[in-house]
Amino acid sequence: MTQHDRLLIIDFGSQVTQLIARRLRELNVYCEIHPFQKVTDAFLQDFAPRAVILSGGPASVFAEGAPMPPEGVFNLGVPVLGICYGQQVMMHCLGGRVERGHKTAEFGRAYVTPEPEALPLLEGWFAEGREQVWMSHGDHVSAIAPGFRVFGTSPNAPFAITADPDRHFYAVQFHPEVHHTPKGAKLYENFVRLAGFKGDWTMDAYRDEAIRKIREQVGDAKVICGLSGGVDSSVAAVLIHEAIGDQLTCVFVDHGLLRLGEAEQVLTMFRDTYNIPLIHADESDLFLGELEGVSDPEVKRKTIGRLFIDVFQKHAHEVGGAKFLAQGTLYPDVIESVSFSGGPSVTIKSHHNVGGLPEKMGLKLVEPLRELFKDEVRALGRELGLPESFIGRHPFPGPGLAIRCPGEITREKLEILRQADAVYIDQIRKHGLYDEIWQAFVAILPVKTVGVMGDGRTYEFACSLRAVTSVDGMTADYYPFTHDFLGETATRIINEVRGINRVMYDITSKPPGTIEME
Ligand code: XMP
Repeated sequence: MTQHDRLLIIDFGSQVTQLIARRLRELNVYCEIHPFQKVTDAFLQDFAPRAVILSGGPASVFAEGAPMPPEGVFNLGVPVLGICYGQQVMMHCLGGRVERGHKTAEFGRAYVTPEPEALPLLEGWFAEGREQVWMSHGDHVSAIAPGFRVFGTSPNAPFAITADPDRHFYAVQFHPEVHHTPKGAKLYENFVRLAGFKGDWTMDAYRDEAIRKIREQVGDAKVICGLSGGVDSSVAAVLIHEAIGDQLTCVFVDHGLLRLGEAEQVLTMFRDTYNIPLIHADESDLFLGELEGVSDPEVKRKTIGRLFIDVFQKHAHEVGGAKFLAQGTLYPDVIESVSFSGGPSVTIKSHHNVGGLPEKMGLKLVEPLRELFKDEVRALGRELGLPESFIGRHPFPGPGLAIRCPGEITREKLEILRQADAVYIDQIRKHGLYDEIWQAFVAILPVKTVGVMGDGRTYEFACSLRAVTSVDGMTADYYPFTHDFLGETATRIINEVRGINRVMYDITSKPPGTIEME
């Protein structure tokens, strides 16, 4: 896709490798993460990076078959930055020595102090004579490789910052990409400046390139796009429409599990504002019919996934002769994770997507967002003129309200849930909290409880409120509302929503909980 200079991040399996890419993208530098197994000398030649970063990782360079980059990395003549395990790899490959941890293992906050010789990589550092960094290592470097010198030390890491400035090889023991290394971003900024990046990876440029690429890929063929109303598929649809106009048709499958007014909002925006051909497949009877009596979360998810594919396929035929399926796949879905065990990971939830469709229907994929992170997709959406109210929307899962209605799903429960959710979100917006929260929603609990309203007894459903902060949905913390907010919200829900007489606030983080109920 890109004609920009590229930075290659070789992933050795650190939990925070994606954060390196985030920091670089914030500097308008185009980078890609690739697992070490895939990076061969031929790959390097083909990728032609302007700089390379070796990530951290859980392995030890002493382990049998320890993850290593190809030798060619150090002969490319481009700057290389090694982080934590990446530093140890550099020393190991270039003639230094690494020793096992024991007493010198370090986890958490540490302070690095400078050496007398200045290093351009550290420009803007050490304003107060020392700098806070985040360490997380067992093994440590005990002798640096020829050509390297020390530029920073910490009490437990005499080689916290080392470099061979002539060859532009830099190696640090700490993690500059995490929050707890406050000046980490500055270090990356200096690194990419030294490597000669122009910082020209902007959404404006991306949009033009993406449009050109879509035209090239699609030619005069027809494209269909499954629209969920979420940010990703919407941005993909608008971008593709800019590229190929009415060769694109969107299919919006309404499974009857949407929020209050959601279908109308999506239809209005796409038809009235953008004039994009759109099939509104109202299939709520089909979905709710098949879900009747189903209370097992996995059966719900699989039923919805299966029906979605059937319905999509049925309506896609109306388009007639589409050769491509557009999807809003994002970069985090594409990054191949490094697996040392090689074993399959446990399925927590079967996620709903249109997987399997392209093969079944003989379609090729158009995925114009596969190089972007979520916030970049939002920036692109702004660039394309999508309304802010739409771009900033909280994520909404494919199976919709089904997974916010534990136990059996009924139309009555869904209606109560929609009303309660609308009041809750209204409260959050009124208090100016919407953008601080990553995702917020109501779940209706499969239990009725007794209450008293006026002089009468009530026997109604209980609901629970969820609000979390998160970066990517992988981990999450509950949002610390004030008691006043919670009290006011509970009162409003009980007063305004028929069918609920008790409100709980869910204070489980993820892990051990998940964000959705099912
Ligand atoms: P969990 O509940 O697994 O959710 O902690 C993490 C994030 O993923 C969303 N989610 C889904 N998104 N299809 C989606 O497109 C799904 O099947 C699905 N299930 C969960 C959830 O809303 C949260 O943002």
